[in-house]
Amino acid sequence: MPARILDGKALANRVTGSIRERVAARIAAGRGVPTLAVVLVGEHPASQVYVRNKRRTTETVGMGSRAFDLPADVAEREVLDLIDRLNGDPAVHGILVQLPLPPQIEPERVIEAIDPAKDVDGFHPYNVGRLVLRMPLLRPCTPLGCMKLLAETGEPLAGKHAVVIGQSNIVGRPMALELLMERCTVTICHSATRDLPGLVRGADIVVAAIGKPAFVRGDWIREGAIVIDVGINRGADGKLCGDVDFAGAAERAAWITPVPGGVGPMTIAMLLSNTLQAAEAIDGRPSG
Ligand code: GUN
Repeated sequence: MPARILDGKALANRVTGSIRERVAARIAAGRGVPTLAVVLVGEHPASQVYVRNKRRTTETVGMGSRAFDLPADVAEREVLDLIDRLNGDPAVHGILVQLPLPPQIEPERVIEAIDPAKDVDGFHPYNVGRLVLRMPLLRPCTPLGCMKLLAETGEPLAGKHAVVIGQSNIVGRPMALELLMERCTVTICHSATRDLPGLVRGADIVVAAIGKPAFVRGDWIREGAIVIDVGINRGADGKLCGDVDFAGAAERAAWITPVPGGVGPMTIAMLLSNTLQAAEAIDGRPSG
C-alpha cells in the first residue's frame, strides 16, 4: 500500500493562518506586537537560508522581526551582551540564536544566557527540564512540529514503538521526550547503536534526524509504519532530500513526510507559535 503524505506545508499554513488572526486580535486589543529577535553569527550557508525563512514568515503573520547579523569572528562577550540587552527589552518577546556557532563561542553559555521566558527555541536547561518533568512550557520547535504531524494521522500514539534516529539536543532527545509524554515506547538510536536496521524494522513510528541523505533504507520500514523525516540534505543530484529513501519507504509506510514540504515548514510554524505563547505569558507577568 503506498503511503499517505503528511503535508507539512499545508498544516503549517493552517497554523500560521490561525497565529496571524490571534496576532491581529492582540494588536487590536492594544497589546504589544509579538516580536522575535533572531541572531545569526557568521555566514553558514544553510543557517542563512533558515534564518531568512524564519524572519520572512515572522513578518507574514504580523509579528515584529528584529535581525542581528554578527560577523563570524565576533567575541563571545559581545553575543552575551546582546542577549542581555534583548532579555531586558520589554518590546522583545522571543530570542533565537541560530546554531551552529563559530568555534570561539560556546553554545551552552549562549543558550543559558537567554531568559527562559523568551527562549522560543526551548533549548534553555530550564525549558528542557520542564519537558523532562512533563511540565512543558516553551518546547523545541522541530520535535513539536513532528508531534503535530503525527496528530494529523489520527492514529493513537499510546503503546506504539517509536524509534528516534539521532540524539541531538535540538531534535533527537526532545523528540524522544515528546513521544514518551504521549506514552510511546521509545528507542533512541545513535552512531554506537547495534543493528539499527533491526530496530527500525520493529518500529511503528520512525523519526529520522541523522543528517545523511537517504540513510534509512526503504526495506527497513515496517508495513504500515509512520515515517517522519527531519533531514534536509543536498543529494548528489543537487536536489533537497531527507534522511530516508523516500520512494522505497513510501511503498511500505502508512504515512510519510516529504522533503521538502514536511517537517521544515512545521519547525517555523512552531517557532511562531512559541513566540506568541511567550508574548502572552510575558503580558501576564507582574510588572516591575
Ligand atoms: N539550527 C538547526 N536547527 C535549529 C533550530 O531549531 N534552532 C536554532 N536556534 N538553530 C538551529
